[in-house]
Amino acid sequence: MATAKAHTNIALVKYWGKKDQDLIIPQTDSLSMTLDEFYTTTRVVFDPALTAEQITVNDQPVTGKGAERITKFLDIVRQMSGRQDFARVDSHNHVPTAAGLASSASAFAALAGAASRASGLQLSRRDLSRLARRGSGSATRSIYGGLVEWHRGHDDATSYAEPIMEKLDFGLEMLAIMINTGRKKISSRHGMQSSVITSPYYASWKEVVANDMETMKAAIQAKDIPAIGHIAEENALRMHALTLSADPGYTYFNNETLTAIQAVRQLRDQGINCYFTMDAGPNVKVIYDRRDRERIVDGLAQTFAPERLVVSPAGPGIEIWDEN
Ligand code: DP6
Repeated sequence: MATAKAHTNIALVKYWGKKDQDLIIPQTDSLSMTLDEFYTTTRVVFDPALTAEQITVNDQPVTGKGAERITKFLDIVRQMSGRQDFARVDSHNHVPTAAGLASSASAFAALAGAASRASGLQLSRRDLSRLARRGSGSATRSIYGGLVEWHRGHDDATSYAEPIMEKLDFGLEMLAIMINTGRKKISSRHGMQSSVITSPYYASWKEVVANDMETMKAAIQAKDIPAIGHIAEENALRMHALTLSADPGYTYFNNETLTAIQAVRQLRDQGINCYFTMDAGPNVKVIYDRRDRERIVDGLAQTFAPERLVVSPAGPGIEIWDEN
């Protein structure tokens, strides 16, 4: 029996599109910050007495498509380890509110850590990030803490994450503005594939990312938070342009997303260096220097209730332990 704890991550240079659907080889590199406040803890045991997989998330049984995706992932672990048994999987998402920041990144990173250890495999961090990738692309990066790069690679062996700065020695911080979605969202898996196939801008996106990876890494080395924020914001907007330009077009934004963007821009107009990014949902994340935290929280609290503003510094990499 083994347990793993993995934190989620937010991309500063986004992953949006696959080359290989099955192995999850992405079209581009990407770069993220692991967050301290949002994580998943997962315990796995392979048990010869079980006649089927038994899966719970937050103490609720998981069935259907969710269970299928986990079983498919466990099949990879069984294949690697030679272990035949079904598994019991118990997972808990630790998020400050129920407003949907539970992510497949922390979930599949924790599952990769716990399942590989429980099956008897001893994987290096790099191989663990390759395994997590098979569950969800963004999970590749959640093996490491701090600022992390996912090399797209060209096959299973060469597509893995690597830390850029595991422990941040400067004040980069994020704040999530929790925005509820009224509608059922388009999964990132489906959305990104639609962008790859139908957006006429997809070829330009690959050039954008290649350039942003270089300038972002230089900004990180310089610990230049306004540059990091600016590049991340432009990159996010260009990623979201791939949703609008798909056929059929779609968007993850809702009214409140636009209100949040406007609030961030207003603070910036007042001379406070803060920037935004968004993923495959309406929540907005703000990027800033922690010494400006108070002014930013106060400013945003004029529009959003304080309990919807969750501050997070950078978080640690995966932890895995054996249990009896
Ligand atoms: C917008 O990792 O959820 O958050 O690989 O299909 O599981 P799958 O997709 P997923 O996509 C993440 C997209 C993103 C950007 C990012 O995290 O880089």
